[in-house]
Amino acid sequence: NWTTGNVIEEQVAAIREQVGDRRAICGLSGGVDSAVAAALVQKAIGSQLTCVYVDHGLMRKGETEQVEKDFVAATGVQLKVVDAEDRFLKALAGVSDPEEKRKIIGREFIRVFEQAQAEIIADEGPAVEFLVQGTLYPDVVESGGGTGTANIKSHHNVGGLPEDLEFQLIEPLRKLFKDEVRMVGQELGLPEEIVQRQPFPGPGLGIRIVGEVTKERLDLLREADAIAREELTAAGLDRDIWQCPVVLLADVRSVGVQGDGRTYGHPIVLRPVSSEDAMTADWSRLPYEVLARISTRITNEVKDVNRVVLDVTSKPPGTIEWE
Ligand code: XMP
Repeated sequence: NWTTGNVIEEQVAAIREQVGDRRAICGLSGGVDSAVAAALVQKAIGSQLTCVYVDHGLMRKGETEQVEKDFVAATGVQLKVVDAEDRFLKALAGVSDPEEKRKIIGREFIRVFEQAQAEIIADEGPAVEFLVQGTLYPDVVESGGGTGTANIKSHHNVGGLPEDLEFQLIEPLRKLFKDEVRMVGQELGLPEEIVQRQPFPGPGLGIRIVGEVTKERLDLLREADAIAREELTAAGLDRDIWQCPVVLLADVRSVGVQGDGRTYGHPIVLRPVSSEDAMTADWSRLPYEVLARISTRITNEVKDVNRVVLDVTSKPPGTIEWE
């Protein structure tokens, strides 16, 4: 007989038993799954858990602060934040190809994460033998049900560690679906903004800038995205849409007229979609008044943006993201 209370109690007991007096680490992405998994393990083993959050500079407005402040405040978790913005921006400089961007972001992410792991492991204290992951039931099914240990190759410039570190996995959400994970998160006292978060891609805003990723463009897109999210939330539409990517067409310019003069700025694309599982999607029929408010605010408040366009393509043929 399934209740969130039972799930939490069971998992807490199992995790305590599994970990004993050793230590665990967990990567936080800002997403629901890793946040709930971490909160659950924190409840079980407290300061024997350390979380790592890599700030790659590609997050949306307020997201890093949400992890740094709200998540820590709600859970009391021990958190190591790695500010890696410069490193990511350097690696992405001059790159426009979507696949190449994804590869670079993925590679840098692993490097930074492994380095942080190595620093934690090198600390004084009991052995770190466990890696917490926010794997959900659908992920287990999709990947054929395999589990066991994760083979984390230690980074070559970190001395004194074995070649291959074997971690045992802790996956407290393995039997749960997304809505159940949200309920568990709520029960654990996580803030609504974290528990009800819509999906957001790992490579972040890096794949929502069509063209080269620069700090200036990221700042501009962060502003536009924050406005769209604010208005969608104010209109009570968060639960009706699956997600709404906001995309900057950095390589496109069009003529506009703003204030007393002619402008030559960039378009912002709104991509609101409805979906069950992101495999297929339809474009959301948002109320015109909401679209109008978003458009007016973005063109008024965001420098260098003089046009807002709506993506009315379903998936297929379009993907949800533009890159
Ligand atoms: P597409 O664009 O393929 O996106 O229709 C489907 C869903 O997956 C998300 N997405 C990602 N999530 N890493 C992620 O964690 C990624 O590289 C990635 N790319 C796309 C996207 O936001 C949508 O929910």
